[in-house]
Amino acid sequence: MILVTGALGQIGTELVIALQEKYGKDKIIASDLKEPENYDGKFIKCDVTNFETYEEINEKNGIKTVYHLAAILSATGEKNPELCKKVNVNGLENVLKVAKKYDQRLFCPSSIAVFGPDVPKENTSQNVELNPETVYGMTKVKGEELCDLYFNEHDIDVRGIRYPGLISWKHRPTGGTTDYAVEMYFDAVAKGEYECFVSKDTRLPMMFMDDAIRATIQLMDAPLESLNYHSNYNLSSMSFSAEELANEISSHVDFNCIYKPDYRQDIANTWPISIDDKDARSDWNWEPKFDITKMTEEMITNLR
Ligand code: NAD
Ligand code: SER
Repeated sequence: MILVTGALGQIGTELVIALQEKYGKDKIIASDLKEPENYDGKFIKCDVTNFETYEEINEKNGIKTVYHLAAILSATGEKNPELCKKVNVNGLENVLKVAKKYDQRLFCPSSIAVFGPDVPKENTSQNVELNPETVYGMTKVKGEELCDLYFNEHDIDVRGIRYPGLISWKHRPTGGTTDYAVEMYFDAVAKGEYECFVSKDTRLPMMFMDDAIRATIQLMDAPLESLNYHSNYNLSSMSFSAEELANEISSHVDFNCIYKPDYRQDIANTWPISIDDKDARSDWNWEPKFDITKMTEEMITNLR
């Protein structure tokens, strides 16, 4: 049996469907802090910061693999650092302890937020010193360290990707800094205008959700002996500025974008512009399929 924590979020909404298609609906248990409005499959409400409840769910259901997506993202994390540490670090510790006890495989995502302002911003490589300035970034570095510790000292097969900002149409995200790229599509189609919370020249690494889901499954399917990293694979597909995205959307929809940077601009300023993912490409044959043009066609068609 496979458990997905944080299953009602931006990634979980799509990963659960992909896992149901791959393994069968009866093999997947979705869980989250909140209840689903409509969900087709088995769902159990669960707070990952509660060790007893989390362990009981795993034991009772014979869980052998966990996709641990429950987290607090960067913008919410800056506003509520204690909650961010509790969920992203203490919650992950619970997941790792249970994985050790029940000999589970784990997928625990990281983020481009592990990089701080001192690293080269262009083509940021896998192996640079991690010096994030955001609370979220610090919790993600801690998460990578904990995962590597459990891999090295407790033989837990734990894998993870440093996702770039993810763009999708099935779920409107909240609480992240890269949300502006998703919101721009939603509001362009629904209202013909968008007030963007970062400046027009803000350029960040992004990826279409279909590629992110494919990468996740591909990494989990890769033979362990081919992996030179575990919890922290850099992953890349495209980088663009907010204005370039607005121009691309404008070729499909008549819309007006205005730029009013807020506190999230300071978070975005500390992150890389583009990512070097050569290790993911060579270790498990990663290759993206979507560029900004193909992604925009998919986003607009589906949002319409
Ligand atoms: P999300 O915020 O959309 O979803 C997270 C889910 O976790 C929510 O449904 C929330 O209700 C749930 N949750 C929060 N606290 C919980 C708790 N205590 N117990 C159980 N559930 C809880 O996030 P997402 O975008 O789906 O991200 C999933 C993972 O991927 C996170 O680790 C995130 O850091 C990482 N990531 C996401 C992106 C992105 O652009 N979406 C980029 C980089 C990394
Ligand atoms: N997309 C995420 C965020 O903005 C990055 O991890 O928080």
